[in-house]
Amino acid sequence: MTSVPKAFSSVEKGSDPVMDRLGVLISGRGSNLQAIIDAIQAGRLRARIAVVISNRAAAPGLARAAAAGIETVVLSHRAEASRVVYDHALVRALKDRGVTLVCLAGFMRLLGAVFCDAFPNAILNVHPSLLPAFPGVDAQRQALDAGVAISGATVHFVTPELDAGPIILQAAVPVQAADTLESLSARILEQEHQILPEAIQLVLDGRCYIDRGQVVIR
Ligand code: GAR
Repeated sequence: MTSVPKAFSSVEKGSDPVMDRLGVLISGRGSNLQAIIDAIQAGRLRARIAVVISNRAAAPGLARAAAAGIETVVLSHRAEASRVVYDHALVRALKDRGVTLVCLAGFMRLLGAVFCDAFPNAILNVHPSLLPAFPGVDAQRQALDAGVAISGATVHFVTPELDAGPIILQAAVPVQAADTLESLSARILEQEHQILPEAIQLVLDGRCYIDRGQVVIR
């Protein structure tokens, strides 16, 4: 059995001032970041966001973070020589701020082994499909093109493979005959906003462990 980090397993709800420091990585709109902020403000998520990092200076999500009084950092992948160098820079920025759990909230960069090894079983990603179906970009378009009756949203632990890793929570979204890319994406996004804060709380409460590559929730 591979477990989540010991510190997560032993953390009592909201009792440890160190273990609940989130680092949220974004690339764009930041609606999932907003869902995390809202859940914290509503008391549904007992955590704090130590920093929001974007790989794009123009990401509208940065303004959402600033409006909530959260430190923002822009780390452009274009400024770094290689993926490894970029991953090291990201790790440094997060560790410098005491981040213990990383949330990829629409962060559209593949993270390598350097990054994953720095936060073992402590990186979550939200994706707009029922993984392992439709990884990568345009997941909602892929679902429409495949003609599936049901798509949805997934939150999973991150591994260096694209949109892979043990699944924590999923929500199903039926595809309707009249669905457009916009209408399906909007209904999936509603579910993302529900399950991302919920999955973060499960991990922080030490209620998830990984057994033979699969998440078990107690
Ligand atoms: C979300 O739909 C998220 O699931 C997706 O990007 C969007 C970001 O929206 N992420 C991926 O596709 C990752 N492979 P947001 O910036 O409004 O949260």
